[in-house]
Amino acid sequence: MKPFKLDIAFINRNREMAELSSYLESRPNAILFLHGPKSSGKTTLMYRLFEQIKQENAYEINFLNLREVFLTSYDDFIDAFFKSAEQGNGVKTGTRRQYSLFGMFKLDAFTERMLKKKKEDPFLVMKHEFQRLQKKNIHPVVIIDEFHKLDGLYLPDKQKRLMVELMNFFVAMTKESHLCHVIIASSDAFFIEQVYVDSKLRKTSRFMKLDYLKREDVFTWLHDIKKYNKVREYKLRDEEIEKIWDTVGGSCWEIYSILEELFHRQLDDILMRIKREKVAMITDWCFRDPSNARRKILKLYRESNILGIRAFAPEQLDDLGQAVKDNILYYDPVEGVYGVQGKSLEWGIKGYFYKPV
Ligand SMILES: Nc1ncnc2c1ncn2[C@@H]1O[C@H](COP(=O)(O)OP(=O)(O)OP(=O)(O)O)[C@@H](O)[C@H]1O
Ligand SMILES: [Mg+2]
Repeated sequence: MKPFKLDIAFINRNREMAELSSYLESRPNAILFLHGPKSSGKTTLMYRLFEQIKQENAYEINFLNLREVFLTSYDDFIDAFFKSAEQGNGVKTGTRRQYSLFGMFKLDAFTERMLKKKKEDPFLVMKHEFQRLQKKNIHPVVIIDEFHKLDGLYLPDKQKRLMVELMNFFVAMTKESHLCHVIIASSDAFFIEQVYVDSKLRKTSRFMKLDYLKREDVFTWLHDIKKYNKVREYKLRDEEIEKIWDTVGGSCWEIYSILEELFHRQLDDILMRIKREKVAMITDWCFRDPSNARRKILKLYRESNILGIRAFAPEQLDDLGQAVKDNILYYDPVEGVYGVQGKSLEWGIKGYFYKPV
């Protein structure tokens, strides 16, 4: 196969990987919520962790990326979370896709039938599976990405919200029974709406924030794109790296797209276009709100990129929530702050209020 002229890199996440490993090395006592701004690398980090711990036979990892799963009903949930032993036979579970597509828990055919007929409690089935593994001295680990996609689904009969029940179940499995580690990655909007408002969950969970890359990591990366991305056609000089950092900061996805465009465009043109795009995005977001409440919020970010919750009035909470949903702001529940989602959007806000770039 012809090699790519730009490959995917994975830059220093040693500290975060160590934090995740240390969570797994202690007896389960809390759910670990991984949160952070859009495209900060949450899913990538989960996959890395998954690859690392699957080498160690001491763990049974159940990794489910719900972004890849079609979920509109309770039956879809059962399909995503459970797979029959027969289905599992012959299926090599060595790659991400197969792991995430074929569900999390292996069942015998009878239990599966009962689950599908809604005659078996899925939570009990999971608990039994965790107990069975514990007895064999294997630690079960559940990793769920895009957890908020379960929102809107209900348990049969009881009309209970599946997502809420599942979180309660995971609290019981971690804090109370210490049976299983649970790592949940999801959007910031989800944290505000479902976790942060629930004091019980807040008190029984651990939070880990995954931010964009630090300056020194971006510099190490871009100084050696030959090593990290297998790029041979061009190199980046110090002042060019500085310009990239100044425009998009440590946002891996944006850095990658700049590297891609550099094969056929000038750096200054690319960076100028990114800034203009972000001004347009902010203008559009404010324009959609005739009450000017959105504009009022963003105006506060002209001077500072991070603001504590006390900078706002209670009636602004809905619009702040919308800003998080629309990936304009991120919310850090541990620090209680709202910040602009990345450096390029900071340019967007500056350009909108001061002068177009
Ligand atoms: N440590 C890293 N080094 C280099 N590139 C990275 C790194 N982590 C993530 N990326 C790249 O950044 C992009 C976004 O990563 P990813 O999808 O994991 O983010 P995310 O936080 O899960 O996003 P979302 O908020 O949409 O769920 C991907 O293209 C990925 O390859
Ligand atoms: Mg993700």
